[in-house]
Amino acid sequence: IKHLIGLKGMSAQEITSILDRAAFWEQYPAKVTHFLQGKFIANMFFENSTRTRFSFELAEKRLGAQVLNFSAAVSSVQKGESIYDTVKTLEAMGIDAGVIRMKPNGVLPDLASKMSIPLINAGDGHNEHPTQALLDVYTMRKHFGEVRGLHVVIIGDIMHSRVARSNLWALQAMGAKVSFCAPDNMHAHDLDGLADYITMEEALQADVVMMLRVQLERHEEGQITPSSLEYRAQFGLTVERASRMKAHAIIMHPAPINRNVEIDDELVECQRSKIFTQIGHGVPIRMSVIERALS
Ligand code: CP
Repeated sequence: IKHLIGLKGMSAQEITSILDRAAFWEQYPAKVTHFLQGKFIANMFFENSTRTRFSFELAEKRLGAQVLNFSAAVSSVQKGESIYDTVKTLEAMGIDAGVIRMKPNGVLPDLASKMSIPLINAGDGHNEHPTQALLDVYTMRKHFGEVRGLHVVIIGDIMHSRVARSNLWALQAMGAKVSFCAPDNMHAHDLDGLADYITMEEALQADVVMMLRVQLERHEEGQITPSSLEYRAQFGLTVERASRMKAHAIIMHPAPINRNVEIDDELVECQRSKIFTQIGHGVPIRMSVIERALS
């Protein structure tokens, strides 16, 4: 079964084949194909989402699949039903694949091992967000022509970031250099030794400056230390800092964005920002991943 649990351990060859197929779908002239006609795919989001959920739905519909959207808020999860029982229920009804987002870390491999249908990880806790990193790497490859040799700095709440983890695995496999930049209390100690922490000044010399959202919902009572104002002063990508980036460098962010906290409002759609380009690439990347799961 061709699950997509994460990018840790995935080879450059396999990542490249997913990116190449996404490039095929990005160029595909017809908006809707019949490639997955007769297939039923359930999008099971136990955590909120805008980009990932809708781009999976668009990808599935573009491939001609039938789409079922499960929302935890109006399901029997509210009566205490477990994630396992929910997925098993949809499997019993005959879905062909499931896309799943959930809060718990690291339970997805065990869940997938108990299913007879492929599961695609749409974000699990702070563990992995493989399709986000694939669309990020796709965006870099498309812009620079090659990922090997790029220096990518990921700035922000590394500790709580599944995007940072999936990007680290994918970018290192593809031959890029990854550095992190974060306040001490947002370092990810499970990743110690895998990427260096650098200063904001050093970060401005990277080819790709990837900003992360401060995940207020994962901090105690939504309070961050330093405060939003201090955070912007110390780790925010301000207009002044962006003016000191290399001429060819790009700005990325997985979104949603806390404007004027981790990135200044004026930079979100500036010329070197790829933020909305990244979002657009989510559809062909997810078409490629769904096709891989069902082929
Ligand atoms: N980037 C991302 O995963 O966004 P959503 O949470 O809106 O899906």
